[in-house]
Amino acid sequence: MWNALKAAAEAGRDRVILDLFEADESRAETFSVTALDLLFDYSKTQIDAATLDVLLDLAKAAEVEARRDAMVFGRVINETEGRAVLHTALRNLDGEAIEVDGQDVMPGVLETLSRMETLAQDVRASDVTDVVNIGIGGSDLGPAMAYLALSPYRDGPRCHFVSNVDAADISDTLRGCDPATTLFIVASKTFTTIETMTNARTARAWLQDNGVEPDGRFIALSSNAEAAADWGIPRDRVFGFEDWVGGRYSIWGPIGLSLMLAIGPDAFRAFLRGAQSMDRHFRSAELHENMPVLLALVGIWHNQGLNHATRAVLPYDNRLSRLPAYLQQLEMESNGKSVAMDGSDLPVNSGSVVWGEPGTNGQHAFYQLIHQGTRVIPCEFMVAAEGHEPELRHHHDLLIANCLAQSEALMRGRSLDEARALMAAKGLNGDELERQARHRVFPGNRPSTTLMMPKMTPEMLGEIIALYEHRVFVEGVILGINSFDQWGVELGKELATSLGPLVSGDASADDKDASTRALLDYVHRYS
Ligand code: F6P
Repeated sequence: MWNALKAAAEAGRDRVILDLFEADESRAETFSVTALDLLFDYSKTQIDAATLDVLLDLAKAAEVEARRDAMVFGRVINETEGRAVLHTALRNLDGEAIEVDGQDVMPGVLETLSRMETLAQDVRASDVTDVVNIGIGGSDLGPAMAYLALSPYRDGPRCHFVSNVDAADISDTLRGCDPATTLFIVASKTFTTIETMTNARTARAWLQDNGVEPDGRFIALSSNAEAAADWGIPRDRVFGFEDWVGGRYSIWGPIGLSLMLAIGPDAFRAFLRGAQSMDRHFRSAELHENMPVLLALVGIWHNQGLNHATRAVLPYDNRLSRLPAYLQQLEMESNGKSVAMDGSDLPVNSGSVVWGEPGTNGQHAFYQLIHQGTRVIPCEFMVAAEGHEPELRHHHDLLIANCLAQSEALMRGRSLDEARALMAAKGLNGDELERQARHRVFPGNRPSTTLMMPKMTPEMLGEIIALYEHRVFVEGVILGINSFDQWGVELGKELATSLGPLVSGDASADDKDASTRALLDYVHRYS
């Protein structure tokens, strides 16, 4: 099946996007899809009808629909860890039964949601002013991203997110908190992650040093209630989830508690409802009208087809500043794998390098390379029709204008003749005109997609995050990999553990390589 993609890529590599629009008046409609209130426009790419057929054939050959059903019905699709994958159950608000090993998981899910809501109401009505979520990776990025994204909906305590084992993170955070009114959430699926446990111990010591009894000041979000209890957090303050919720897919359950505290249980439910609506779309729409499927296929076209290794995610929404980081974990931890589910080598590139920043800031930083660099970087723009500051509508109009201008500029470019005309208009001529003109050429024909949304509400954020989750799933199915394990993070963790005593000087570094020994010597000389 990859041969067909290769052939399509050869045929389409130099296709001129502007010509595609010229030849087909309805291209913008044909190569876009709407779902819920979202519009995903992928017409500014080199994809034509034949390419789309090849891409859809990939999805069919990989049996995306059957795999999707296997996921949402609780089959063990995470084969390397022997687990079901059921983050969708966390937003299955109607409670329709989902069985794992013959047991309906929904009563447990809904009970935990209701316990979270009771706690959120109590905390929001109490004198707690600050909540510190201590977690890393999936136990941090989701709530941290959503807390920022939904700041217009916040009416609860201030939340802070401490993730890095660098003492700077917790020190800077605690400096702004009052020990008497600060609540700590220790968020860790395993309750063993070294960064989180180190930060949690430092937080406990901070309370004690300030004369505050830590009991009642900690809540745990974890699948490992026993370890949380051993740490001193009683079971009624532990909010558990099962091993079928992967860390990077966990914002919908207890890991979302800080968000619920900030925006309230009703808005949190709206967030879940948005995701549930996207789940319904993903489960029912035909492949060619299925937004997550199309997002994934466009990604495969650019990465596995045209060999564009990176993809820029460019939200024109300042409050989505953590979205690229969130998507980095979601996509790169899920699909950054070179071995297929059956143990064979992947015959094509693994998932993309995802990176980005909100617009318009990125325009004044790295867009230069996107427009004129030698590599093509497919761009994924997103923008809402409406902002949250109606009194400053002119800002939002400018924001949208910039977003649309960038995708147009990438596609259109500026030819040498146009650049020459510009230089001539500035009064240049001869060699100098020629030299200056060349610097002002934009190659153009650079692909981008645009995701439009009405407004970034809690429900909308739920839709978008679920959209990306399913995009990752579809890409993983087509690549034939397991998107739900992350063995690639293990080796570094093991080595860090063994290096600890070497850094503190309590063990010899003799069996380390020469570079590592020299780096350790440097540390010992200067510390
Ligand atoms: O090291 C990677 C990872 O396992 C992620 O997958 C996970 O989100 C993160 O660490 C944190 O894990 P935990 O929630 O168990 O502390």
